[in-house]
Amino acid sequence: MSNLGFENTDTFLLETRVFPPSPSTVENANITAYMKSKGFDDYDAFYKWSLENRFEFWDDMAKELHWFEPWQKTFEWTEKPFFKWFLGGKFNITYNCLDRHMQTSTRSKVAFHWEGDDGSNRTLTYEDLYILTNRMAKGLQNLGVKKGDRVAIYLPAVPEQVVALLAVARLGAVHTVIFGGFASNSLRDRINDAEAKVLITADGNYRGGKLIELKKLADEAIKETPTIEKSIVVRRLGSDVNMQAGRDIYLDDLLADIPEDTFVPCEPVDSEDPLYILYTSGSTGKPKGIQHVQGGHAVGVYATTKFVFDIKPDDVYWCTADIGWVTGHSYIVYGPLMNGATSVLFEGVPTYPQPDRFWSIVEKFKVSILYTSPTAIRGLMRFGEEWPKKHDISSLRILGSVGEPINPEAWIWYRHNIGHDELPIMDTWWQTETGMILISPTVVIPLKPGSASRPLPTIEADVVDKNGVSVGSEKGGFLIIRHPWPAQMRTIYKDPDRYVQTYWNVIPDVYFAGDAATKDKDGYFRIQGRVDDVIKVSGHRLGSMEIESSLVSHPAVAEAAAIGKPDPLKGEHVKVFVILKQGFEPSEAMEKELKLHVRTTVGALAVPDELEFAPSLPKTRSGKIMRRVIRARELGEPVGDTSTLDG
Ligand code: WTA
Repeated sequence: MSNLGFENTDTFLLETRVFPPSPSTVENANITAYMKSKGFDDYDAFYKWSLENRFEFWDDMAKELHWFEPWQKTFEWTEKPFFKWFLGGKFNITYNCLDRHMQTSTRSKVAFHWEGDDGSNRTLTYEDLYILTNRMAKGLQNLGVKKGDRVAIYLPAVPEQVVALLAVARLGAVHTVIFGGFASNSLRDRINDAEAKVLITADGNYRGGKLIELKKLADEAIKETPTIEKSIVVRRLGSDVNMQAGRDIYLDDLLADIPEDTFVPCEPVDSEDPLYILYTSGSTGKPKGIQHVQGGHAVGVYATTKFVFDIKPDDVYWCTADIGWVTGHSYIVYGPLMNGATSVLFEGVPTYPQPDRFWSIVEKFKVSILYTSPTAIRGLMRFGEEWPKKHDISSLRILGSVGEPINPEAWIWYRHNIGHDELPIMDTWWQTETGMILISPTVVIPLKPGSASRPLPTIEADVVDKNGVSVGSEKGGFLIIRHPWPAQMRTIYKDPDRYVQTYWNVIPDVYFAGDAATKDKDGYFRIQGRVDDVIKVSGHRLGSMEIESSLVSHPAVAEAAAIGKPDPLKGEHVKVFVILKQGFEPSEAMEKELKLHVRTTVGALAVPDELEFAPSLPKTRSGKIMRRVIRARELGEPVGDTSTLDG
């Protein structure tokens, strides 16, 4: 990677408040029970032990799950940087999410309270989910899906979305979920890279009251996806959509002849067999297919859900993310289900029909654990504290934040207005690549606003310079992790070289996260943002290249550059610079047309807030656009080293 645009700046927020944990929370915490079982009262001593005994820790966690055959070896790192966890184990994550609970009282417990955008509700017990998953697995089998096949999922947040993931995993097949906010080109490219055989989509859905014609977007995409043989359509709206004979089938019709007592055994896959591919934006080029495995991934996600959110049998847990992103994979679907939790699944947005939607849901379902994003909090902050005050939200006991840095003001507002000045906030740092939360408080440690706090047990994180040398406390540098963890990605699908280059070769022999950070004298991390060309708009991860490729696919555009600019609400927004081809003139109409083009090809989330027509763009001698220079100029920051700049 040539674009390490981060210089050591010594910048450090002057935020000194510290919030100690409440003694009763500490006493009853899941992590406290585990610490005690290992003979520890003190978290620091326990953390130190966990670094030296990481395999014992992860063995303990893995033993809490069901294995068809136990693993023979916990970890192997002989072909560096590639590693393996739980070698020789035979496993199925769906067995651990569903089948295992059929023998306990969890069977009749609510798995999901679902609330639609329009306020409609459905309740599914673990048994309901089990029955539907078996039937869907049978339906997929009937369409020829088998172990190792890829199935693309492009759905709104309906229970069938959860079921689709579980059914695919049950068969030992591999899911690739595409966020419903992506448009047809993004969908097409991801399906083609994954070479998916089946697509599961819906007739459409409403989001914030707005109709999204998902099937139309899917049809557009699968015109150019030669590997798709069948497309299953979930009826969300019940409206008539175009169905291509021989290819498209409604889920209702697929399941019509499959009885409720259908049982499709879970495929006992190898621990290291793939569970899913999730595409995410990188520094350059096309999105990367981040590949996660069944075994280690499950163990990591199970343990972090248990310890970070401190989930107990009576909790009602709500993660407001979308299943199309990694947060939804790990902490809506797999983590809570493996823990036997009751969750809320919500299809809509925080402000529709009114800015108290979140709080009305918390009140209705007596949510006790809420996991959301800084953008959602900042958005709701703007509407004022009278909205949460309209509701009884006293059921809450733990709050969470994810996806982007949470500024101390938003943290304090969240704690004060939603947490009644007493609830702990788990500011969780992690990535699509990490599969599980790595840096986060647990409920037993003091909190500092705006800091994701400390690495979780066994995780060895540091802040280093370009050579991998620790920079010391309160100095800026690159965030790295020294030793693999079970839920870590194993490779980039079909591109192991890119995996090695991107994550292991930037700074020798350690996992390079792509974030800048500082660490204070107490070992608390503050994440400062990406050092590459990833843009985080409202916590959604976008790549400059995706937006630029869309723009240059428009007939009027010769060249384009996309950068992220700080935004008080969204964290960052997109600004693009466009050079038009000869014969085209800048105009308001042209600006509108180009923005619409990004919307219809990449998706609404990528539409630039700002578009500037430029006569030229700074480039390296080899012709690469220097986004770092453009960004620095735009923000009035020092441009840094421009020795390779052309002219
Ligand atoms: C950012 C989302 C600060 C970070 C789970 C990371 C955060 C990227 C935090 C990964 C946090 C995530 N504080 N920044 N608590 N959590 N990030 O793959 O830049 O969509 O590299 O995974 O989000 O985004 P991704």
